Amino acid sequence: MRAPMDAKGPVVALIVAAGKGERAGGAVAKQFARLDSRAVLAHSVAAFRRHPAIHQIVIVIGEGQEAEARAAVGDHHFVMGGATRRESVFNGLAAIASASYVLIHDAARPLLPAAVIDRLLAALDENAGAIPALPVADTLARAGDVLGDTVPRDGLMRVQTPQAFRFADIVAAHRDWPADRDATDDAQILRAGGYPVAIVEGDPALEKITHPADFAAAEARLSARTSIRTG
Ligand code: CTP
Ligand code: MG
Repeated sequence: MRAPMDAKGPVVALIVAAGKGERAGGAVAKQFARLDSRAVLAHSVAAFRRHPAIHQIVIVIGEGQEAEARAAVGDHHFVMGGATRRESVFNGLAAIASASYVLIHDAARPLLPAAVIDRLLAALDENAGAIPALPVADTLARAGDVLGDTVPRDGLMRVQTPQAFRFADIVAAHRDWPADRDATDDAQILRAGGYPVAIVEGDPALEKITHPADFAAAEARLSARTSIRTG
C-alpha cells in the first residue's frame, strides 16, 4: 500500500548526517563513503525522493562537511548539526518552515524500503509517533570480564529509523527535553512528552552502518536487492 500523495499535509524527511563516524573509521565519515555506485547518504536521499508522499528532504551535516555532502548528493541547502545526534535533529527540526509530519532518519541506514515509509505513515493516522522495529533473535546477556546474567529477550525490540512523528508534537517534545540529557533516538523524546509511540515492522535492510564490516553486509543486501529487481 502506498500513501497517496496528498492524503496528509506536508511530509518532510529529515536526515541526520552530521556524525563523525568514528567507529566505522575510514578516510571520510561513513555517510560520505561509497556504497556500490554512490555515497551512503545518497541512498536514503534517493529512497525519500522516489517516495510520492515525501514533499521535502532536509539534510543535517557537520561543520566542515559541505564539500563531501555536495559531492554525495549535489546542490542542496544543508543544515548545520550539533555535537550530538539529538542536537543535530533539533537543528534540523528548527530549519523546517512548515510540516504536518516528519520522518527522522539516520544517514547511516542507507537502504530504506518504501514499504517501511508506507507503514509508518499509515500508523500516523492514529498515533503521534511511529517507529520501525524488529524482534531480537540472539541471546542477550550482561557483559563483564566473564559472562554475566542472561537478559530475557521477551518483549525486547531493535529500534530502527526512520521514525515518524506529528511535526508539532515532536518539536514540542524536543523543546521540553533536558539540555544536559542525551537521547539515542527521537521516539524516547516523544514518549517522555507523554505520547504513546506505535511500532511497525522494521526491515533487516535498515541495519545501521556502525563498524567497518557493516559496509560489506550493506553491499551484499544491496546486490541481492538489485538482482531481485533485474533477475
Ligand atoms: N549524527 C548526527 N550528529 C551527531 C552525531 C550523529 O547527525 N552529532 C548522525 C550520524 O551521522 C548518523 C546517525 O546520527 O547518521 C546515527 O549516529 P551514529 O551511528 O552514532 O553515527 P556517528 O556518530 O557518526 O558514528 P560514531 O558514533 O561511530 O562516531
Ligand atoms: Mg555516534
